[in-house]
Amino acid sequence: MITGADRGVGFALCACFLDHGWRVFAGRYMPDWPELDALREKFPEQLHTIPLDVGDTASVRAAAGMVRQTTDHIDLLVNCAGISHGDERTVFNVNVTGALRTVECFLPLMQTGMQRIAFFSSECGAISVSHRDGGAYPVSKTALNMTVRRMFRTLRPKGFTFRLYHPGWVRSYMSGRKSTVGNFEPEEAAAAAYGQFVSDRDAEDVLVMTDISGEMWPW
Ligand SMILES: NC(=O)c1ccc[n+]([C@@H]2O[C@H](COP(=O)([O-])OP(=O)(O)OC[C@H]3O[C@@H](n4cnc5c(N)ncnc54)[C@H](OP(=O)(O)O)[C@@H]3O)[C@@H](O)[C@H]2O)c1
Repeated sequence: MITGADRGVGFALCACFLDHGWRVFAGRYMPDWPELDALREKFPEQLHTIPLDVGDTASVRAAAGMVRQTTDHIDLLVNCAGISHGDERTVFNVNVTGALRTVECFLPLMQTGMQRIAFFSSECGAISVSHRDGGAYPVSKTALNMTVRRMFRTLRPKGFTFRLYHPGWVRSYMSGRKSTVGNFEPEEAAAAAYGQFVSDRDAEDVLVMTDISGEMWPW
């Protein structure tokens, strides 16, 4: 299950999982954005598009209900949905509370299987290396990191494993249109994320934030 799957890294990640043979539930926030429709034509059996606004509890509950109609469990929940602009309340509701409510609503579907939860964070939320402005966004990622840390403490003893991922500066759609500046294409950030999300680690009892190269970051 991948949130924020319409475009950018979330979309590229859907394509990557599908290419590797996974069944994917893609959270669709933008009903008129066509990329997921094209992907569904290519993978009609494997891809399920699910209307999802992570900022709205009723929407997240409904999405979990729709997924439950197709499967009794999901292996991996990827919290990718995120926004960098907007008023403080909205940014926090999507980037922090959105991830939290998504985990809460999908947790009943994760009592068996792989039991892995992944989050898209950012180096901009790392307090010890913080070096820029940027309104609510960096603070929301700091809050996300702490939220993930608290989830980790609760859910790791129950068998869950976690991935906290910083994709780097990606030429995605965070500004509202496809960015022409950045270090990576969404497909590059997604390919690295896929490798890290599906592979096991020796040290699953330690929560770390990793980048596209697998390097650890302070967070
Ligand atoms: N791009 C970077 O350089 C960068 C760096 C570090 C971390 N990240 C993180 O990586 C993740 C993916 O970002 P991206 O770069 O792929 O950005 P993106 O291209 O904007 O993709 C994010 C997707 O999530 C959607 N979304 C927005 N609000 C939502 C909501 N309430 N519910 C569900 N989906 C919603 C967006 O729709 P709209 O386009 O309509 O908003 C968009 O389709 C984010 O968490 C971001 O913070 C990105």
